[in-house]
Amino acid sequence: MISLNGKRILLLVSGGIAAYKSPDVVRRLRDAGAEVRVIMTPSATEFITPLTLQAVSGHAVRCDLFDPTAEAAMGHIELARWGDAVVTAPATADFLARLRLGQANDLATAVCLVSAAPVLVAPAMNQQMWQHPATAENLAALTARGVIICGPGSGSQACGEVGPGRMAEADEIVSAVARIFATGRLAGRRVLITAGPTREPIDPVRYISNHSSGKMGYALAIAAHEAGALVTLVSGPTVQTKPEGVTVKSVETAAEMYSAVMQELETTEIFVGTAAVADYRPEFASAGKIKRDGSALELRLVPNRDILAAVAASANAPFTVGFAAETDNLIANAESKLQRKKLDMIAANLVGGHEIGFNSDDNELTVLWPGSSKVLERAPKLRLARSLLEVIVERFESRNSGSN
Ligand code: C5P
Repeated sequence: MISLNGKRILLLVSGGIAAYKSPDVVRRLRDAGAEVRVIMTPSATEFITPLTLQAVSGHAVRCDLFDPTAEAAMGHIELARWGDAVVTAPATADFLARLRLGQANDLATAVCLVSAAPVLVAPAMNQQMWQHPATAENLAALTARGVIICGPGSGSQACGEVGPGRMAEADEIVSAVARIFATGRLAGRRVLITAGPTREPIDPVRYISNHSSGKMGYALAIAAHEAGALVTLVSGPTVQTKPEGVTVKSVETAAEMYSAVMQELETTEIFVGTAAVADYRPEFASAGKIKRDGSALELRLVPNRDILAAVAASANAPFTVGFAAETDNLIANAESKLQRKKLDMIAANLVGGHEIGFNSDDNELTVLWPGSSKVLERAPKLRLARSLLEVIVERFESRNSGSN
């Protein structure tokens, strides 16, 4: 259960249709124990009324920078200093532009300039506005300045179009706010994990895949979230439940997993590839179901791209951790993968038996990095994931401090 007990959140609402979801954000922040005060931009009041947000927040809502009565009660400087975090949901394209420029032409932006507290924005806008280079530049500048971006999601939009720009769901926003206050060793760090198998279609009903259950990757995502990281999990098809507070991107094929990883790479600081990515895919997937005619069937397979190696070879590569699932010569094979793929670390585990590895609840790992190694004894996957994460964090920190 997420706790924001005693935290004071300034919620800014700017003028977009997603403002109709802001009362739910307030409600959930309060459910988590936060005290919430709301500021609306003048255009936000075109979409919902201050009275609605007053009712759910339990405080009068401020809309006007020059309201003498409100200023006498709590001036805008005082109000800005009151907040432990400043959250804007929804943040329109216009609001982001003004925030980037440091404008203070309404109460909401003025408060952002005054406050020294962490700022989180949940963008919401038409998909074309979101994809416009101007918005992308504003986002990049705000990210570089430490502003936390939550969402947006993709899907059907109020304007009738389909694409990225839907405001993150209220519970995602609350999780992202909670991460601001997380104190773990990975607080605020961005961790990207791949998990599960991939499916390579042969025809519309058949595919090539493997026995990976995704358990190890999901356990690592939980452990990284517990340590305060902002976790994205790119997951092949599994039956695992979405870990709370983790952003999950579901994919099917290795090619989709590759694209999803590459999209996240720029902001990733630690990458862990636990996925059992299919090494090959059928060169052609048949459009219709292949019929049996009694004769032999030949499938020509072509190699998939190695996601892990591509991540390790990318410019500004994150701290890159691979997995080596082997049936024999565990350490020698893992050593050679560590070097060949130029990884910072590799976790090797035996597969093929029933007790550990693929699809089992327990696992044991030998973790190798250039110059050393460590054995993590057999344990349930979540406990093992926590131990592995500790080793990762130690190496990551020592690489960052340049003392490796
Ligand atoms: O070479 P091998 O497939 O055994 O390496 C396993 C490691 O490489 C795992 O971390 C797996 O996630 C990653 N991998 C990948 N893309 C591939 C194949 C493997 O990221 N196409």
